[in-house]
Amino acid sequence: MVAKSSGGRDQARRARRPAGVAKRIGLLTSGGDCPGINAAIRGVGKTAIRVYGMDVIGFVNGFNGLVHQEYVELTDEALSGILTLGGTILGTSREKPFAGSRGEDGAAKPKAMLRTVASLGLDCVVCIGGNGTMKTAHMLSQAGVNVVGVPKTIDNDVWGTDQSFGFDSALTIATEAIDRLHTTANSHRRIMVLELMGHSAGWLALSAGVAGGGDVILLPEMAWNEAAVADYLVHRQKDGKPYSIVVVAEGIALPKKAVEAGARPGRWLAQRITALTGLETRETVLGYIQRGGSPSPDDRILATRLGTAATTLISRGKFGRMVALRGSQVTSIPLASTAGKLRLVPAYDPLVLEARLLGVCFGDRATK
Ligand code: F6P
Repeated sequence: MVAKSSGGRDQARRARRPAGVAKRIGLLTSGGDCPGINAAIRGVGKTAIRVYGMDVIGFVNGFNGLVHQEYVELTDEALSGILTLGGTILGTSREKPFAGSRGEDGAAKPKAMLRTVASLGLDCVVCIGGNGTMKTAHMLSQAGVNVVGVPKTIDNDVWGTDQSFGFDSALTIATEAIDRLHTTANSHRRIMVLELMGHSAGWLALSAGVAGGGDVILLPEMAWNEAAVADYLVHRQKDGKPYSIVVVAEGIALPKKAVEAGARPGRWLAQRITALTGLETRETVLGYIQRGGSPSPDDRILATRLGTAATTLISRGKFGRMVALRGSQVTSIPLASTAGKLRLVPAYDPLVLEARLLGVCFGDRATK
């Protein structure tokens, strides 16, 4: 992973540096991994090296690398061949260096990060991550470091961008899983419950549910009740539908007794459906398969666009911002405006309304 650059080529590259533009930048990847991160690293790094003659280093294992000054040089060669790779070549972690930083000892990690930035002479740190990472990036920026954020997550819940890379790949995988459940559900005349990721957002369950023709879709953002789900499934059977697909987001609200028992949504729901309807029910938890593997073409493109845009921002001296997709345009917003916020599914999201027109049950209404 660590590639040494050749001296002659480096001199030529540095000679191309426009005056007044950042010379040395660091980047890190933080939070849960997802497809497209390496494409973003490549987008940031190749633009920085080839267009602006910058030196680029990559911190390993998220903010841990910044705290402990653990990094690798990212040369043009090191950035080749990673576009299609899943995961992150830098490693990641859920380290939150500002957590508990108010006490005397608590300031140790923030101070260590500032020391790293100063001792390595970094003009900017690019933070690739989800909403937790953007919050930390904002705090780092408030502490005086030049920071640019790049949003990634399969949950699609980073506030201020219409889409984060990772989401499209996960959606493709989740949709294929539903497609496969249809045939086995039909053969056995069963109810199939599929639990999908998304943390406290329902974007993945909603989108995959619609793309895969789910009959019931349960989202964390919407109140639902088991009686409405059971009633709907029984009516479907009476209407001659031999099987049903229930797509459930991992973050849905569960009754108190289920929470106290440590129940998982998919399993708990499958048990309740069997108990309430007598219909044979099975559950599948798709899990980390949703996050692994090669990025989809759309995610490669989005990650590349956001990565190159991050370096363009740096070249203009615009810091404390997150690159974002708005419509078809890549733009940027202040980190302050996204930090601490979540992009959730609105009750009247067009896709929810369109799914309702098709008869999809969101568990919130009794069957007519
Ligand atoms: O935020 C991305 C995500 O994949 C969520 O959908 C999921 O709840 C979580 O990460 C799992 O995180 P971990 O890798 O810490 O188990």
